[in-house]
Amino acid sequence: MTRTFSFTLEATDGAARLGRIETPRGEIRTPAFMPVGTAATVKAMMPESVRATGADILLGNTYHLMLRPGAERIARLGGLHAFMNWERPILTDSGGFQVMSLADLRKMTERGVTFRSHIDGSKHELTPESSMEIQRLLGSDIVMAFDECTTFPAEKEVAASSMALSMRWAERSRDAFGDRPGHALFGIQQGSVYRDLRQESAEALTSLDFPGYAIGGLAVGEGQEAMFDVLDYAPAMLPQDRPRYLMGVGKPDDIVGAVKRGVDMMDCVLPSRSGRTGQAFTRRGAVNIKNARHADDPRPLDEQCTCPACRHYSRAYLHHVFRAGEMISGMLLTWHNLHYFQQIMQGMREAIAAGTFEAWEREFHAARGEGDI
Ligand code: GUN
Ligand code: ZN
Repeated sequence: MTRTFSFTLEATDGAARLGRIETPRGEIRTPAFMPVGTAATVKAMMPESVRATGADILLGNTYHLMLRPGAERIARLGGLHAFMNWERPILTDSGGFQVMSLADLRKMTERGVTFRSHIDGSKHELTPESSMEIQRLLGSDIVMAFDECTTFPAEKEVAASSMALSMRWAERSRDAFGDRPGHALFGIQQGSVYRDLRQESAEALTSLDFPGYAIGGLAVGEGQEAMFDVLDYAPAMLPQDRPRYLMGVGKPDDIVGAVKRGVDMMDCVLPSRSGRTGQAFTRRGAVNIKNARHADDPRPLDEQCTCPACRHYSRAYLHHVFRAGEMISGMLLTWHNLHYFQQIMQGMREAIAAGTFEAWEREFHAARGEGDI
């Protein structure tokens, strides 16, 4: 197994890309979907079950883990992989984005951000340097630069100064990260919906020569059309020979549209979070298992799905356990959703390899038009 981090582009079909990332902890097939394991668990799933759905890599969160149970504690216990029993690659987000959406009394300066914990009100600081240190203590394989996710909508002047701050923080992140063979630091492009700012950001990051690049500041309320408008140009601004990670996306049709436009990696809480609130994603669209019309339905969620929820249980059973508040409800629906998201990724990888992405995409959209799910 390789001792270093590398990305190989294996095929392209239009702007869509097939590739692989090699790390000392294993290979990541791209396009890749990363399940979210915020608090050192993909909620309601055993790690071996997450792997069984087809995941090559998980996402963890600096913000949550620094607050509870603490990065030093995780380091003393052998690092995040051993702690949560996931020996394959882990990518960690750098914390700033979660501070802005979750923490109290936030204060941002050139140095970084101070805030109070949403858990116990304790006071903390995150800077590019401390974020790199926490992600090192966790043992993350793919470390994210410390950035500010520009809020949407943002006036151009606001978006420009926010992006410039993130670029200064990207350089500080790189300097603090240092040289860590087998681990990679990804820069994060910002610039909101402004093409020239996205270009300026891409140039600033590229001059720092990161092994991978993320597209940040999207899926923040701009809507799919505006997001796709940005993705029509943003990926091509980043180096061809490095992985491109679209942060926080998305619904199945967002994921397909992003891959079509040249994105290699994505993460989203949607399949896991929706699984716990009774929403299932299927080839034919979303199913709300809460709905009374499932109470006597002996059919599985999706006749063609090979996940345990679909192989062994009826919609009537899934409806019952959801209504009864039974834990297996979140377990089965999360498993199904993660399985379905990984099936989409596998389908796209095979289509790109075969040069049939366009036909695959047509079929993906056609199945969802059939109604009655
Ligand atoms: N998650 C979703 N969007 C972003 C972003 O712009 N930056 C970071 N660090 N995390 C994100
Ligand atoms: Zn299923």
